[in-house]
Amino acid sequence: MQVVITGANRGIGQALDQRYRARGADVTGTSRKGGEFVTLDVTDPASFSGLTRALDSRPVDLLVCNAGVYLDKGESLADGYPAQMWADTMAANVTGVFLTVQNLLANLQLAGAPKIAILSSIMASDERAPGGSYIYRASKAATLNLGRNLAADLRHIGIAVGIYHPGWVTTDMGGAAADIGVDESADGLVARFDALSLETTGCFLSYDGTPIAY
Ligand SMILES: NC(=O)c1ccc[n+]([C@@H]2O[C@H](COP(=O)([O-])OP(=O)(O)OC[C@H]3O[C@@H](n4cnc5c(N)ncnc54)[C@H](OP(=O)(O)O)[C@@H]3O)[C@@H](O)[C@H]2O)c1
Repeated sequence: MQVVITGANRGIGQALDQRYRARGADVTGTSRKGGEFVTLDVTDPASFSGLTRALDSRPVDLLVCNAGVYLDKGESLADGYPAQMWADTMAANVTGVFLTVQNLLANLQLAGAPKIAILSSIMASDERAPGGSYIYRASKAATLNLGRNLAADLRHIGIAVGIYHPGWVTTDMGGAAADIGVDESADGLVARFDALSLETTGCFLSYDGTPIAY
């Protein structure tokens, strides 16, 4: 099984990378900084050539679009949320997911039952709109929308797409006060990715399997 995970160098991506390796999967993890991972900045279209080369036309069974940023934590409505922060967030959380899927489509199509898992957030939900974090919320709502529309377009070529909330997780992004650790989140996400199929394509689920209203 060939798995590709973006942003595998820390946080949830790293925990997923470790789980699939422990299962004996062939895992291609990416990181902006390279090192033991394939170098990839998901905001840079030119950056994908390294990933394509590393995969060398191999079938990809599971693509996990995990890389993301939350830059507007604590911004003030009165004088915060600068335009560049909107641009940088959308580039990573939305354009980055699209470019990742687009660049791996050929590899996915070579697999028997290919799947794409997209990390959005419960903060994407319009049903749950407590205010604040406007940029992150809007970006993750767009990520959800992108995933839902990709599911519609890719169903006929046999690629299932799921969109997921990993829980509020104690990573650099989630912070120390979060609800769950990376192990609980990653265990739940792996079970969700295992269950993803063309019957459930387009789903928006929490790591524990709870459907999220949106
Ligand atoms: N933690 C939570 O509570 C929570 C809740 C809901 C959703 N999520 C989502 O879950 C995913 C993982 O979150 P996390 O908590 O593990 O975050 P994290 O600890 O901040 O890690 C984020 C990962 O994304 C990578 N990344 C960011 N921008 C990138 C870019 N332009 N190109 C390539 N890689 C990039 C980071 O690489 P660098 O090391 O180079 O920065 C890092 O590997 C994100 O999509 C996040 O929005 C998290």
